Amino acid sequence: MLGDFVYSNPTKLYFGPNALDSLQTELANYGNIVMLSYGHGSIKKNGIYDKVIAILQACGKTVIEDGGVMPNPTVDKLYEGAKRARENHVDLILAVGGGSVCDYAKAVAASAYCEEDPWDKYYIRFEEPNCKLIPIGCVLTMVGTGSEMNGGSVITHPQQKLKIGHVFGAENYPRFSILNPEFTYTLPKYQMVSGIYDIFCHVCEQYFSGTDDNTSDYIAEGLLHSLVQASRIALQNPTDYEARSNIMWTATWALNTLIDKGKTTDWMVHMLGQAVGAHTDATHGMTLAAVTMAYYRHILEAGLPKFVRFAKHVWDVQPDGKTDMQIAEEGLQAFECWMQELGLVMHLSEFGVTEEMIPGLVDSTVIMHGGYKVLNRDEIAAVFRESL
Ligand code: NZQ
Ligand code: ZN
Repeated sequence: MLGDFVYSNPTKLYFGPNALDSLQTELANYGNIVMLSYGHGSIKKNGIYDKVIAILQACGKTVIEDGGVMPNPTVDKLYEGAKRARENHVDLILAVGGGSVCDYAKAVAASAYCEEDPWDKYYIRFEEPNCKLIPIGCVLTMVGTGSEMNGGSVITHPQQKLKIGHVFGAENYPRFSILNPEFTYTLPKYQMVSGIYDIFCHVCEQYFSGTDDNTSDYIAEGLLHSLVQASRIALQNPTDYEARSNIMWTATWALNTLIDKGKTTDWMVHMLGQAVGAHTDATHGMTLAAVTMAYYRHILEAGLPKFVRFAKHVWDVQPDGKTDMQIAEEGLQAFECWMQELGLVMHLSEFGVTEEMIPGLVDSTVIMHGGYKVLNRDEIAAVFRESL
């Protein structure tokens, strides 16, 4: 394990088919005014909204409605939510939804009493909050981002063509998150597989770095094994509780800071995918899927030993009689086959991306330095071109 590190995660998790029963206990810890943030209505269709409202009413809470949080939440929605939270003296933000609603809740929590422009402060200058934070709780309905147990908060500025994540400190993590795998049964297949791929990608972003023998990498391989196994079952039977619960738990541990301990991390697939998201508003996990293979083929040689290990440990490639490059290639092929099996978007053209858009995409891409190879702008353009 490299360097000094601290591991602490303040989010309390309630997991399982009866997890929502604990909401009542948690609500007792907060004041009377609860802002209920949610998306575009899936929770009204599947009954989760009614269940949450009944609990809030039983606890005597005043509910401030805050629906309409869009996938890839925008800066304008953030301004609107921050104003609403401030004007209503909200004591708790209860985010009921997927990563978009949870991310948005964190941004609102840190913006309601912020005296500067929150977009500039958190997403351009990456400063820490220096104002009162509103506590957040989360009822998760879509699995993938890990937002239920981390400080990540991704906001899109459509006019500036930027989609940027701020990673808040532990004081702005959800205080509690309620994880009932059954709540994810109503997800459309497109969202389910997009979330599954997001999880896989989060693990890879933290796995493809470093040359030391690191416990974090063994944990990562275990998470990937479990995810591939469960994804195949969920694909056949979306209401298989065992598979959906394993996917949900894997998502949380894939991005709650555990597996980046003692490591540098890459995150370039996310930077490429976020640039695509800023220009097209496409579904997060799908943007990652479309750029992954081209990116990994660009860094393969620089990170060859790790790609060999990935092939052997995750995809069970038999190494006998093969060169390292052949083993690594076979691993990537198995990976690509699994992505196709899930039905992920494998080409950027499916989002309407064209050759002419590539310079703009390159301008929107943040270049990271923790992986096996730091790409220059020409290489980034090449990755986008090969992903078309
Ligand atoms: O808006 P509603 O009606 O709720 O519909 C949502 C939305 O259309 C729907 N949905 C959610 N739960 C459902 C459901 N439909 C039926 N049944 C259910 N139970 O699913 C759609 C997608 O939801 P969304 O929250 O946007 O998806 P996801 O969880 O993938 O979140 C994506 C956002 O999180 C950011 C992404 O960039 C993107 O903005 N990320 C956050 C991260 C973090 N906090 O650490 C890291 C990730 O890498 C990611 O960047
Ligand atoms: Zn992601």
